[in-house]
Order: sequence, then structure tokens, then C-alpha cells
Amino acid sequence: MNDDLTLEQKASLGSGATFWTTKAVGSVPGIFLTDGPHGVRKQVGSADALGLNASIPATCFPPASGLSRSWDPELVRRVGEALAEEAQAADVQVLLGPGVNIKRDPRCGRNFEYFSEDPLISGVLGAAIVRGLQNGGVAASPKHFAANNAEDDRFRASSDIDARTLREIYLKSFQRVVQDGEPWTLMAAYNKVNGVHAAENRWLLTDVLRGEWGFEGVVVSDWAAVTDRVAAVAAGLDLEMPSTDGRSDSELVAAVQDGIVGEDTLDLMAERVIRLAERVGGARRPDTVVDDEAHHALARQAAAASLVLLKNDGGILPLEAPERIAVIGPFGAELRIQGGGSSHVTPTRVDVPMDEIRRAAPQAAVEFATGFSMDEGPDPVGERRDAVDIAARSDVAIVFLGLSERDESEGYDRDTIDLPARQLQLLAEVVAVQPRTVVVLTHGGVVRLREVSALAPAILDGALLGQGGASAIADVLFGMTNPSGRLTETVPERIEDTPAYLSFVSESGHLHYGERIFVGYRWYDARDMPVTFPFGHGLSYTTFEYSRLRVSEVEEGVRLHVAITNAGDRAGREVVQFYVGLAESAVARAPRSLVQFAVTDLQPGETRWVEVLVRREDVAFWDVRVDAWVVEAGRYVFSAGASSRDIRLAVEVDLAARGPSVPFTLDSTIGELLSDPVGAVVLEQRMGDASAMLGEDAAGDPGTSRMLAALPLGRLAAFAAGRVTREQLGQLVDVVNSTKAVSNRTDESVPRGE
Ligand code: BGC
Repeated sequence: MNDDLTLEQKASLGSGATFWTTKAVGSVPGIFLTDGPHGVRKQVGSADALGLNASIPATCFPPASGLSRSWDPELVRRVGEALAEEAQAADVQVLLGPGVNIKRDPRCGRNFEYFSEDPLISGVLGAAIVRGLQNGGVAASPKHFAANNAEDDRFRASSDIDARTLREIYLKSFQRVVQDGEPWTLMAAYNKVNGVHAAENRWLLTDVLRGEWGFEGVVVSDWAAVTDRVAAVAAGLDLEMPSTDGRSDSELVAAVQDGIVGEDTLDLMAERVIRLAERVGGARRPDTVVDDEAHHALARQAAAASLVLLKNDGGILPLEAPERIAVIGPFGAELRIQGGGSSHVTPTRVDVPMDEIRRAAPQAAVEFATGFSMDEGPDPVGERRDAVDIAARSDVAIVFLGLSERDESEGYDRDTIDLPARQLQLLAEVVAVQPRTVVVLTHGGVVRLREVSALAPAILDGALLGQGGASAIADVLFGMTNPSGRLTETVPERIEDTPAYLSFVSESGHLHYGERIFVGYRWYDARDMPVTFPFGHGLSYTTFEYSRLRVSEVEEGVRLHVAITNAGDRAGREVVQFYVGLAESAVARAPRSLVQFAVTDLQPGETRWVEVLVRREDVAFWDVRVDAWVVEAGRYVFSAGASSRDIRLAVEVDLAARGPSVPFTLDSTIGELLSDPVGAVVLEQRMGDASAMLGEDAAGDPGTSRMLAALPLGRLAAFAAGRVTREQLGQLVDVVNSTKAVSNRTDESVPRGE
């Protein structure tokens, strides 16, 4: 397809024409790319990647930190379809999102753009957005590939991560998005991964992404992520953005002429860009007319599904016909709906909390006081007094607390997760005069809630909700909506408790991921630490009962069924979470890892079965010895619950080993052989009690057995005083390996727990 193109033309296909567009070359049309992820930020005047200059109005859907709390891929897909329509109307062909990086640390300034601390939910929801966008003919661009988990020093720092952690946590969300969503493009991150810039990392872009996962789309660089275009193209990058005014095209042409990059590599790059241009060009519908009202209604619906009721002591919510309501806090007058930086959209309209509260409670007298200011300045004593006064003379106080866009943004990280002290002081004074106080939270990243939770009887957590957030909040407060959102990240007690507390900041250009796979709830659960609110937590105005958890093994993995009953008197939605654990494992594991989830809507008294398939690879671990996903043989515990700390039912199932196994050698320890079912039998047959090899007195001695467990088999000959030779040990190893090879072909695992 490239035969008619010159080297220069091919090279020029792979770099921007402007800040947001690619070049039209011959018959290949140019492409318009823009942010993303939760609204179309199309700039028609000055361009920038920081959200500074104006963009055309677009629906601001809940950013990922809010939307993820719906746990609802179907809803997320519909949001993707609406985004596609708006992109079509704006003649945009690629929408830069979703963001599927893992929230490694709550201080990351950009956590509001990401879904979760858990790779499964990030991957499933990310794939749902991709499908929605691409159903509408607009290419998605999952970002930022990979391990871009901090903002400070993001252009230079190397995320130093061991192979197992990379695969099981940081690459896993991308793997799912690529394999389930089949995005037409993917964005390479700014940072380095194990020393090599992501946009120039051949292992990442070619070996893993294309070779292992089968990605067939275009890899686009994050804006100005490329430091060396020639290295980037050689590594598998297709499109450098934004424009370099032809500079890097000339470098690439020279590299091809000098034989540094093969012409076939350039051809592949050009072909992929051409294919994208034709694909999105063929799907262009610039005459699309967007129904702004319908999209606003969808934004409201998405916001309502994303609200998390964290606490509701004494059933204070929903509010029942209060006569006097005090609304306190600047966000009560103007809700913050999104985060700062490149994702910042100009909303088509924004619901106002005070108006929505008045709508939802027309009978009530509603008073407002700011109580505090988002700006630092002199202590607002007078404002606090006014707020306390209106709280005291009302039936209920609704106190809006949270962070401003300045507190958290793309481009820099937070130093703290605390709410400003003045907000806590205000809350304490309000609660002292008004025990019926409801806190409504607005924030992108996690905030410390220990003090808020100790003070307030009810907490409604909005995270960031987009332009329909205020009406969604009012509907939940007054019971028109039964809340069903669940946390997608843990609320820790203190920043000092968090897994990367001591290693979040880059040191000499390196970010050391020393906590390994123990990110989020995996860490708090493994260390049995108290948390303020666990991963997956969220209350409803009704209650749900779990019964009859069943497990069965099927070809693709494990099928789980559980019956959920709405035991209350209101219709409601439960988010059913399924976790897996394996106590006896060759590797350090979290007590529970999320392996599936589902939402179910239930009328009062109704029972429904929820059925999910857990894919085999979701119970596997990444075995660094064979560079592959491996299911260990063992007794797995599958559980169903309402949070990682609210497990309602569990069943056990014995699964057989799957995947390549590491052959035993004379360097394998006796303990390793004994922990293998075949190894244990062969050892017993050949040697009886292995400790007897060390002498009669040693036989059966527990201390000797433990010492022996750590002894490489080949060394036993040296201690055995002729009772066993190295040759005999070598034969034993051969027998174990050959028996295992045969049994691996015939093994069936044994389902239990029915
Ligand atoms: C951000 C990307 C964004 C791009 C274009 C970069 O600074 O990291 O997420 O898509 O700018 O605005």
C-alpha cells in the first residue's frame, strides 16, 4: 500500500501536522486527535496540553475516579458512545482516553483520571469505554502505557518494577483493555519503564503489546514524550505527537537511508497510520447533531450511579421532608466537577447544588453559608460563625467538603491526603450544634476521612461527578435515587499507612516499586491494617443478603454463582464482588484479589442469581522462571462479598496446575520436591524418609527435616556417607520430570465446594 509513497512521505505520516492533527499525505486523510477522557476537549484557538486555553462546549461526564464507582461496564459503554457522538459532531477522530493506569499512591495528582487501584476493574471499565467510542466510529487511545503512576518528574523518571508486579498489576489493566476492547490506538507514556522511555521501549511496544497481546492499532506518543524518534520508531511507535515541524521526519529518513532503521519498519509504521486514517476517515460523521439535553441526562445518570454512601448512622439518609435545611461550603454553591490539566472540558451546563436541593425539597426553607474558603487567607471566623448559626436553626446540615482543582491536577502530585484543617474545624463546630449533619465530599484523589468519619453521622462521597453531579447528589440525599456506588480504592487511615509511602517520590530519576504487587487493598489486607473505608465499600438504603455460592470449573476458568436477595423495602442495586485467595503458594499473594464483579438490580424481596466467569489467567501468577502465566495447583478460596473486608460467602476448589512448569534439577531443594505432588511421591519411593540419608539418628527429627528442606538435592550426596550417590539423585530428578510431563497432559482438576 506504500509503494507510491516516498520515504519522506512515509516518515511524515508518523508525526503531527499541528498540535492536534496528523498530515494528509496523498490520498491519506489527516486525523484530528483530542482529549479525553471524560469529555471532548476540542480547541479551536490556541492549543495546549494543560487545559489552559478554551475549548468548545462538551458534556462533562464523571471523570474516571467518579465513574469507576458505578462498577457498571454497560453504563460506561453508553458514556463512551455519547462521547463518540460528540467527537463526531466536532469532527474529532481520536479521543485520547481512557486512562487505565493503576492508582499506586493516593498522592498521584492525576488519580482522578484513572479508575482504580485494582487492575481488573480498570481493565474492564477501560475496555467498556473503548467499545463505546469505537462503536461510534471514534478511535480510543488508552493511556498512559505504561506504569505512569506519578506526575512529578513524569517526563524523566524510570518506574523500576519487577517482572511479576509489572505483569500482575501495572500491565494487566492495559492487557485487558487491549484484548477485550481492541482499541485502534494506544498512547505511550512519558516515563521510562525499567530504564527505557515507554515511547522508545521495544519490549513494551513490540514484544509485549503486539507480540503477546496481539495489538494491531497505532501507538501514539504522549504529547512530547518522544526524545529520539528513530529509537521510538525502531521500538514500535507509529505516531509522534504533536508536530515537530518536520525535524524528526528528516531524522527518520536519514536513519532509514543509513540503514539504522529498516525500510520495512518504516513501511509498517506508515501502514498502521494509513489504516487508522482510513478507518476513522470512513466512519466520519461531522453532520452529527448532539442532543445536549439527552447527554446531560446521561451525565446525571452516570453521576447518580457513581455516588458512594460511606456512612449512614441511624439511617439519617435519605432525608425525609425536613423543613429547614442548612447548606454549607463553597461546593454547595458551585460544585467542582472535574480535575485540572489536559482532561479539562468546557461543560455545556453545570447543575448547581443549591438549586437541586431546592428542587428535591420544595417544601423546605434552604439557607446557605460558605463556612470556609478554598483560598488560604485569614481564618474566616465570621463565615464559620454564620455557618454554625444556620446549622443550629435547621433540621439538618449538609456540609460540602473537599479539594479544589488547584489541590490536585495533572502535572504535579500532592504532598498530603488531608482535607484542609479549616474544613475539619468547621465540621466539628457544625456537628456540635447540629447532630443531624451530612457530609458531601468532592475530590479527585483519596482524602483522609478518619476525623470526618468520627464527627459526621452520614457521609456521601461524590469524588468527581461531572456536570450532572449536583442533581445526582440531591436525588440521593432525598431518596429519589438509592445509592449504589462502591469505592474503587481504599480510604486509608493515614498517608503513612499507604504501600508506597516511602517510595512514591522519584529518587535520582528512579521510582522504586518496592511494595511489589501489594497495591491498594492487597497491601492493607495482607498486613491486616485498619482502614477507614475498604475497597469495594458502599452502603444502600436497602440491605442485601448473599446465599448459595457455587463454584465449578469450566474450560475457560471457573464459574461462580451466588444468589442475592434484596432484604429491605426499597428497590436497589448491589455490586457483587468476587475475590480469590490461595493460602499455600509458591509466591507472596494478597489474601484476596478481585477476580470478577457484577451489578444486580433488585426489587424489595426479590432474589436473583448472579453468575460470572473467572478467567483462568485471573487466578494465575506471573512466573518469572518461565516468563508465563501459571496456575499453581492448590486449594483456592473463592469468595463473594460487598467489599474486600465484607466477605459474605466463600467456597474452596482444588485447581490443577496449568501452564509451563519449571523442571526440577539437582539444584532444586528437597523442600521444593516435597511440595510438589509428584516430587513427594517419587522421593518417598526412592529414599523413604530423606532425613534418614543423614544417618539413623537424624531420621524423623523435625529440626533435621526443616534443615533438609533448604538443601539442594545434589548436595545431599556429600552429607549422606554413601547412602545415596549424585547419580542416583540425578535419576530421581529425571523420573520426577518425566512423570510430571505425562501427568500434566492428563491432569484434571477436582472441583469442590458444591
Ligand atoms: C497528557 C495526555 C494528553 C496529552 C494531550 C499530555 O500532557 O499526559 O494525557 O492526552 O497531553 O493533551
